[in-house]
Amino acid sequence: MAKIGIFYGSTEGNTERIAEMIQELFGADKADVYNVDSATAEDMQGYEVLLFGASTWEIGELQEDWEPFMDVLDDVDFTGKKVGFFGCGDADGYPDTFIDALGIIYEKIENSGAAFIGKVPTDDFVFDASRAVIDGVFIGLPIDEDNEPDKTDTRVKNWVAQLKTEI
Ligand SMILES: Cc1cc2nc3c(=O)[nH]c(=O)nc-3n(C[C@H](O)[C@H](O)[C@H](O)COP(=O)(O)O)c2cc1C
Repeated sequence: MAKIGIFYGSTEGNTERIAEMIQELFGADKADVYNVDSATAEDMQGYEVLLFGASTWEIGELQEDWEPFMDVLDDVDFTGKKVGFFGCGDADGYPDTFIDALGIIYEKIENSGAAFIGKVPTDDFVFDASRAVIDGVFIGLPIDEDNEPDKTDTRVKNWVAQLKTEI
């Protein structure tokens, strides 16, 4: 299986925990985890599969460490890479901008030559609008630790099982 690089930004640790869960489910020998607050384009270059994790803050904005990291993405050659997204949001508190950060990162690299994996149907979530919904499905895995923490384990496990069929 292709080696996987997991790159996350997390303010209160929720998305960080999800990144670690994903790593554990793949196996620590198959997936490496990086915080975007200190990761480089070179760190990303060696992976065929990249998983980007971000929470959404300030009503539809990127998690703060992702702001400068968006420029780092300009220095990555995404040709032939598979990219998936995951991230934490609050569908009850911010129903119009639920996990928008995933959509913001996707928009940045949608024409980069990457193939996108790990899309998730919207059925399991109650929200009004999300920039992360592309062609009727979430571009990646939404996690809602604020309202549905009991669903997190299953959502992450199912997503990793799905990814294993797509990489
Ligand atoms: C001030 C504030 C603004 C937020 N804005 C959004 C938002 O626009 N969309 C969303 O889905 N979640 C929003 N959230 C919820 C966080 O994304 C959520 O709590 C998440 O689990 C934080 O993850 P982290 O610890 O990885 O940063 C907001 C939370 C706060 C406190």
